[in-house]
Amino acid sequence: MRVRNLPWAKDYLPLQPSYISDPQEYKGKWKEKLHVQTLHLEIGSGKGDYWLSMSEQYPDEGWIGLERNTSIAALALKKAEGKFQNNRVFICQDAKDLNEWFEEGELDVIHLNFSDPWPKKRNTKRRLTYRTFLEVYRKLLSDQGKVIMKTDNTKLFEFSLIEFQNCNFHLEEVYLDFRKEDHPEDAITEYELKFMNQNHPIYRGIWHK
Ligand SMILES: C[S@@+](CC[C@H](N)C(=O)[O-])C[C@H]1O[C@@H](n2cnc3c(N)ncnc32)[C@H](O)[C@@H]1O
Repeated sequence: MRVRNLPWAKDYLPLQPSYISDPQEYKGKWKEKLHVQTLHLEIGSGKGDYWLSMSEQYPDEGWIGLERNTSIAALALKKAEGKFQNNRVFICQDAKDLNEWFEEGELDVIHLNFSDPWPKKRNTKRRLTYRTFLEVYRKLLSDQGKVIMKTDNTKLFEFSLIEFQNCNFHLEEVYLDFRKEDHPEDAITEYELKFMNQNHPIYRGIWHK
């Protein structure tokens, strides 16, 4: 996602009630903080459409948005302005440090929506479904925990199917054209809408640990 650098973003973030500046502070306590039994983490939330919609649609569940780009995170939080809900928070950091913010088994669902595909072989390790990430997800997910991935990118989806398999995740559901039917239970992301408008099929997989 390309967004020009927004000079106001850095000062704006800490003023937002949903913004978490030090996620380590809540390690092991996220459910208590959000007053929920079920905890979702979306990695790479972009401008926050999915995080906002899903936290409104499922107010009894907890929703953590994670986006590493400061300007993009600020745009996400701008959309949430004046709509404070105590079941959602937003972190502006890199997913490489997930281990430091969540206790083992603390997460119930990890959402990967239109993650950067990193097509070049030399960048394989940066993909959010590369095995080192999957090993961390496995550790942080509860016993019934799952990862839900949506993408338009065939190569990334093929790569991910193999990585999940090799990391002993169990494929529970797979869609090769998820939006062919209506799915009101699942919000449409900003990228998803773009690809749907281009008639591009949306792949979706759900994996259990
Ligand atoms: C292609 S965009 C998709 C945004 C949104 N999920 C959607 O579907 O519209 C991917 C986003 O993931 C973020 N991202 C990529 N790698 C990340 C990481 N390691 N940690 C946190 N965010 C990341 C990028 O900055 C970008 O905003």
